[in-house]
Amino acid sequence: MCGIVGVTGKDSAVSILLNGLEKLEYRGYDSAGIYVNDQNGQDYLVKEKGRIDDLRKEVGANVQGSTGIGHTRWATHGEPSVANAHPQVSADGRFYLVHNGVIENFQDLKNDYLSDVEFTSQTDTEVIVQLVDRFVTKEGLDTLAAFRKTLSLLGHSSYGFLLMDKEAPDTLYVAKNKSPLLIGVGDGFNVVCSDSLAMLDQTKDYLELHDGEIVVVKPDEIKITDQQGNAVERDTFHVDIDAAQADKGTYPFYMLKEIDEQPNVMRKLSQVYLNDDGQPVINAELLDALKAADRLYIVAAGTSYHAGLVGARLFESLANVPTEVHVSSEFAYNQPLLSKKPFFIFLTQSGETADSREVLLNVNEQNFPSLTITNVPNSTLSREATYTLLLHAGPEIAVASTKAYTAQIALQAILAKALGEADDQPAAKDFDVKQQLALVANGMQALVDEKATFDKLAKADLLKTPNAFYIGRGLDYAVSLETALKLKEISYVQAEGFASGELKHGTIALIEKDTPVIGIITQQNTAGLTRSNLQEVEARGAKTITIVTDALAKPDDTIILPTVDERMTALLSVVPGQLLAYYTSLNKGLDVDKPRNLAKSVTVE
Ligand code: G6P
Repeated sequence: MCGIVGVTGKDSAVSILLNGLEKLEYRGYDSAGIYVNDQNGQDYLVKEKGRIDDLRKEVGANVQGSTGIGHTRWATHGEPSVANAHPQVSADGRFYLVHNGVIENFQDLKNDYLSDVEFTSQTDTEVIVQLVDRFVTKEGLDTLAAFRKTLSLLGHSSYGFLLMDKEAPDTLYVAKNKSPLLIGVGDGFNVVCSDSLAMLDQTKDYLELHDGEIVVVKPDEIKITDQQGNAVERDTFHVDIDAAQADKGTYPFYMLKEIDEQPNVMRKLSQVYLNDDGQPVINAELLDALKAADRLYIVAAGTSYHAGLVGARLFESLANVPTEVHVSSEFAYNQPLLSKKPFFIFLTQSGETADSREVLLNVNEQNFPSLTITNVPNSTLSREATYTLLLHAGPEIAVASTKAYTAQIALQAILAKALGEADDQPAAKDFDVKQQLALVANGMQALVDEKATFDKLAKADLLKTPNAFYIGRGLDYAVSLETALKLKEISYVQAEGFASGELKHGTIALIEKDTPVIGIITQQNTAGLTRSNLQEVEARGAKTITIVTDALAKPDDTIILPTVDERMTALLSVVPGQLLAYYTSLNKGLDVDKPRNLAKSVTVE
C-alpha cells in the first residue's frame, strides 16, 4: 500500500526521504514523490511514475532541503500518473500533503466546499489539501486549526496524513485514523514513517500514534494532541531490528532469502516458545482465556488465511476445540452466528491489514477476547487485541509471503499443544512439538538445498503454461491453496488450488494436453484417492507432478518430502510450491519481490 516518510531538521532530508521510500518499495506501489523545503525560501516538488530509481533520477543533485515529506502510491482513486502521485498540492502552492488511506466522502466534500476549485488530479487526497488551504485562506484559521477542522469532516475515512505548510517550513503536521504511522525520535531532528523499516538507519526510538490524534513535529519538538486538542504524553518504544536484517545480502531477491531462512525460523520459535523439556512456555492468562472458549475463530487474509486453515486442524486435533477459519473481509460485514464463548485469533504477518482490523474492532466492541499472532511488534492489531504472540521470523520484505506462513503454522502448533496439555488432552501429551519442529527444520533445509531441481521443473513445466492446478485433500488441500496463490502472485500463471475430489465436479473441464497438475500427498487416509484423481487428469492429457512424503512415496513420484508427523506436513509440502513459484517468476524475467498490482501490507479495505 502507500508508504509515507517525513523528516525535519536534517540537511540530508532528500537522501533520507529517498532511502526511506526505497525501504518501503516492498509494500508495493506504482508512483512516488517528495516535497522538500530548504528553510531559505527554496522548495521542490518532484514526482514520478514507476520506481524510486526513476524518482531519484528526476530529483538529481540540485534538490536540497532539511524538511520534507515523501510517498509511494498504490493507486486507489485515479490511475498511476505524475498528476495523481503524492505529495498533492493546494491550488496556491502553499500546502503539500501525502496520504495513505481512503477518504470515503471526498466527493461530498468537493461538492460542499470546493465547487469553485480547479482540481489537477483525480485523487481523494487533493480534496484534503485544498480544504486545509480553504480554511486557512478564506476562514482565517491557522494551519493546525484548519487541519483539525478538515479531519473533523472525514467521517470513518482511513488516513495517515503528513502535511507541510510553506510558511512554517520546518514543521510536519501529522494525523492518522486506521492507517499506520509512527514518529521516530532523533537528536535535533525527527522523522515520520508508516513503517519503522523506512527509518531504522536514522533512529530506533519511536512513538506510536492512536487513531484520531494530531501531531506537530519540529526538529526539537513533538506535540501530540487528541481529537479534542488535549495534550497527550507518550513513551517511546525501541525497535530491536538490525537494519542489516532487512538487507538482501548476496541474494538476487528477498523471496529466495526468506525461503532459505525458514529452517532457522522454526528453530527460533522452538527456542522462544518451548523450554528444554519441550513444554510450551505460553502466558498463563492467555491459556486460561483459550481454555474458557467453546470455539476458536481464526480470522485472516491471503496467505495468513491459508496458514489459519492448517492451524484449525492443529487446534482441533491436538486441543480438541472446534475451530473455524474466516476470511477477514467477509467476516467483517457478514458475521456468522457465534458460539457462546468465542475466542478470536487474528493471524497477520504485518499486523496492519485493514480487513482484519475491521473485524478486531467489532470483536472488541462485543467484548470478546482475542489474540493477534503477528511478525511486527507494536503493530495495530497487536496493540488492539487482548493478547499478542510474535512470530520472530525477522522482517519479511518480498510481497509473496513465505517464512511468515510457516512461522504462523509452527506457532499455532505450539499453541495447540499448550492448550491441549492445559486441558489434559491425550493427543497433545503424545505430541512432541519440539522434536517435530527440529525434524521440520532439517526437512526444510534438505528441500531448499535442492534448488536446481525446482529451477529445472519450473523451466520444463510451468514457464510456458497459461494455467496450472494444485490439488490435495485435507491439509494437502490447504497447502494447495497456498502454493497456487504463490504461483499466481509472482509468475502471473493462472493457478488454482483444488480439493482433489472436487476437480471432477466441474474444473476438470479445463484440463487439456500438458496442463500442469501438481498433486500434494502427505496424508495416509487420502493418499490413494488423490492418486486416483491424478490419474483422471492424466487420462485427459495433464502433465502431473507429485509432492509426496517418503512414507507414501511410489517410484515415479517427483518430489519426496522427509518424514514428519502427519499434522506437520504443511510446513514441508509448501516449500516446493514456494520454490516452483520463485523459479517460474525468475525464469520469466519478472520482478519476483514486487509483483504487479500487489501490496505487502494492505492498509485499505
Ligand atoms: C497482502 C499480502 C499477502 C498477505 C495478505 C495478508 O495481500 O500481499 O502476502 O498474506 O496481505 O497480510 P497480513 O499482513 O495480514 O498477513
